[in-house]
Amino acid sequence: MNDSSRQAKFLKDYAPPNYLIDAVALDVSLAPKAARVASTLTIRPNPEAAKTGQPLVLDGEALTLQRIALNGKEFAPGDYTLSPGSLTIEAPPAESFTLEVVTLCDPEANTELSGLYRSNGTYCTQCEPEGFRRITYFVDRPDVLAVCTVRIEGDRDTTPVLLSNGNPVASGDIPGNRHYAVWHDPFPKPSYLFALVGGDLASIHDTFTTAAGRKVALAIYVEPGKEDRCGWAMESLKRAMRWDEERFGLEYDLDVFNIVAVSDFNMGAMENKGLNIFNDKLVLARPDTASDADYASIESVIAHEYFHNWTGDRVTCRDWFQLCLKEGLTVFRDQEFTGDVRMGPVERIITARLLKTHQFPEDAGPLAHPVRPASYIEINNFYTSTVYEKGAEVCRMLQTLLGRDAFRKGLDLYFERHDGEAATVEDFVSAMADASGRDLTQFMRWYTQSGTPELACSLDYDPHRKTARLKVSQVVPPTPGQSSKEPMHIPLKVGLIGANGDELPLKIDGEELAEGLLEVTEREQVFEFQNVPAPPTPSLLRDFSAPVRLTTNLNPDQVEFLMMHDSDPFNRWQAAQTYANNLMTAAARSGLDTGPVTGTEAGRLAKALATTVRDETLGAAYRAEALKLPSESDVARELGHDVDTDAIHAARGALRAKIGDTIGDTLAEIYQAATPPGPFSPDPESAGLRALRNAALDLLTATETDAAIDRAMRHYREASNMTDAIIALSILSHLQSPVRDEALEDFYKRWQDEPLVLDKWFAVQARATRPDSVETVRGLLGHPKFSLKNPNRVRALIGSFAQANPSGFNRADGEGYRLLADQALAIDRFNPHVAARLLGAFESWHTLERRRQAHAKAALESLANQELSTDSYEIVSKTLAGT
Ligand code: PHE
Ligand code: ZN
Repeated sequence: MNDSSRQAKFLKDYAPPNYLIDAVALDVSLAPKAARVASTLTIRPNPEAAKTGQPLVLDGEALTLQRIALNGKEFAPGDYTLSPGSLTIEAPPAESFTLEVVTLCDPEANTELSGLYRSNGTYCTQCEPEGFRRITYFVDRPDVLAVCTVRIEGDRDTTPVLLSNGNPVASGDIPGNRHYAVWHDPFPKPSYLFALVGGDLASIHDTFTTAAGRKVALAIYVEPGKEDRCGWAMESLKRAMRWDEERFGLEYDLDVFNIVAVSDFNMGAMENKGLNIFNDKLVLARPDTASDADYASIESVIAHEYFHNWTGDRVTCRDWFQLCLKEGLTVFRDQEFTGDVRMGPVERIITARLLKTHQFPEDAGPLAHPVRPASYIEINNFYTSTVYEKGAEVCRMLQTLLGRDAFRKGLDLYFERHDGEAATVEDFVSAMADASGRDLTQFMRWYTQSGTPELACSLDYDPHRKTARLKVSQVVPPTPGQSSKEPMHIPLKVGLIGANGDELPLKIDGEELAEGLLEVTEREQVFEFQNVPAPPTPSLLRDFSAPVRLTTNLNPDQVEFLMMHDSDPFNRWQAAQTYANNLMTAAARSGLDTGPVTGTEAGRLAKALATTVRDETLGAAYRAEALKLPSESDVARELGHDVDTDAIHAARGALRAKIGDTIGDTLAEIYQAATPPGPFSPDPESAGLRALRNAALDLLTATETDAAIDRAMRHYREASNMTDAIIALSILSHLQSPVRDEALEDFYKRWQDEPLVLDKWFAVQARATRPDSVETVRGLLGHPKFSLKNPNRVRALIGSFAQANPSGFNRADGEGYRLLADQALAIDRFNPHVAARLLGAFESWHTLERRRQAHAKAALESLANQELSTDSYEIVSKTLAGT
């Protein structure tokens, strides 16, 4: 396959657009099979363009052209050229002109869910990154910003609600049971932020008064009957609006802010100006249908999309290579928000765990790319954890290095300079450098070099000089297309802990080190701490101050000491994780010998965990995190090569059982005691208590004694909220016991007509680690309630299996790989975006032991021999090409 869409695009080839579009007036008439879009564009040659007199090339896909006129004059067929993907006008006027284009598109046939489509009868749009061209012909790139007015017309009965960006300006009836609404967005924006919704939707309303006194009407639109599940999203929105004012001085700028929840959506949610469109999974919550985890993701995604109003909408991206400019920064902002409204240290743990689980493998595999990629074939494939989560870490490191105040000044300067513009990463970093007076040249490598830096630290104590020397070396491993790397600028937060657990003063060259922050800039560096009275234990990379892999010369006793005494909550947690990981990797390496995870060292880990969970000063949510052992994928990542997922599963299972057995009394006490009082409330404290209790239950059940299984089943039966019910179901799902089937059946009967809850039922079974999990998933593919067309259902069943069931997906006979390949191929025919995302699950195939590698490779090769979409072609070919 060699069509032109398969060619890589390069950042270095960026050129400004030849034409600018200052204003757009759209007139959209909604109809299921032929929506008519009349667009009037005010266009002028771009004074910044390299050459004048260039042809005007408009992007357009899956459109039927009905009419085209320039300055009111109808075109003859020879005045323009239509080709797949574009409409070219060879010689447009040299001055500003008006272009009118009328096209038809087919919302019902739109299975890609990009452009204008229907979800359960509701008309909605998704334009980022390149969907607007599926609605009308346009210069569909983010550096063309236009002021937009939209008139929407639809049936009064089936589409009583008509929404678009900006503020509502007019509405009325039209004969023939039709009606219309006009919306105007005064803020110039790129086409990817356009949105439109038409449907029979219910809504809840509220208001928010900004710090400046502007009263904003807030609304959330959902399918009728779901209004009772919007309260949490609305509260989250108001919290986010207030927080952005207080923390960053950023206020909302329109009269209305609307959110719409739809059930078919490729991603989580979308920040269209004034009209955020959400996957309903990230809006709808009621105690009986949503878990604490759902409540938490709703809060953070509502905030994320809202925060985009400034970081993304007011200042947007010049080109798609700059995606991290809006995404990394906005994720950083939503993480800071969550840290403030919940428990900071716990959030840091959750964030770091997520980064290590998803981003580290990406950075170590064939799909590794810099936070700002230098090339792509299909931009849809670059909404990755590197761009999002590592991109957020890069912003966090800036804040750490500059300090909060200077970082805030830098952000203020960035808005002052670029409001209303399409900016670059350089613009952002320059604002930070100028506001702080710091040289960030070396820091820029975080945006251009891929791969996770490996930081090796060792501490030596000199009892005569009373000094502690910390040797630090860094290596950035080679990644595809980047064989040699330059050293990075790494903020390294450290502490030295005395024998009694006290923090020792950190003195370097006679000066006290502020907040324990070291700046690593060279390949090899030595930091010498003075006046250290006795041999200390170093606590390194506190608060996970940089997204690096750390290795140290700490011995097991020192790690154990840290898990009891480190005053940095992150590192205290990390110490236990490291300890557990070391035991599990040792066991997994020695095949099926579980000695390391059942012996005395495992017993020591169990006792340290007991000390932590009994320490009530620590907070329930934190103690719950402490009880969660590193996942099977964490262990696989630590191993790095010759991965045998069965050995890892066995090792982790044995360690869990050992802990459940050794500290069973403590866990049982916790289980009895940690019940939140009163009726269900999703607040972080109550959620923390539930998490602690459920983490205890999980380890208790790992022993698989009859009593433990009975307890889990009782937990399921007595659950008065989804959090407890789904945890119990998930714990039971791994067992070979009739109660498992009983619970699954009960859950299905109760929730079969609630799509979001039914997704959980599919997901629990897909994740269950049982020898027949491939067959279970295959069976569920044929379930009457399963559909390949709904992305949430696909992710629940196929996504969960491939991403969250390592021993099932990587089954030694290769059946897991074949299942994924078959299903992804089927989906690729109608929704390439979702298919390509699923195929990302092959990214670590090169780390597997030989037999599994061969099966994975065969599955990938069988895909490569098929007719694939550009999206899937890019993933498959790069994954096969390897590192
Ligand atoms: N821009 C969205 C967000 O992160 C994600 C998204 C990308 C949604 C592409 C749809 C399509 O907030
Ligand atoms: Zn985003």
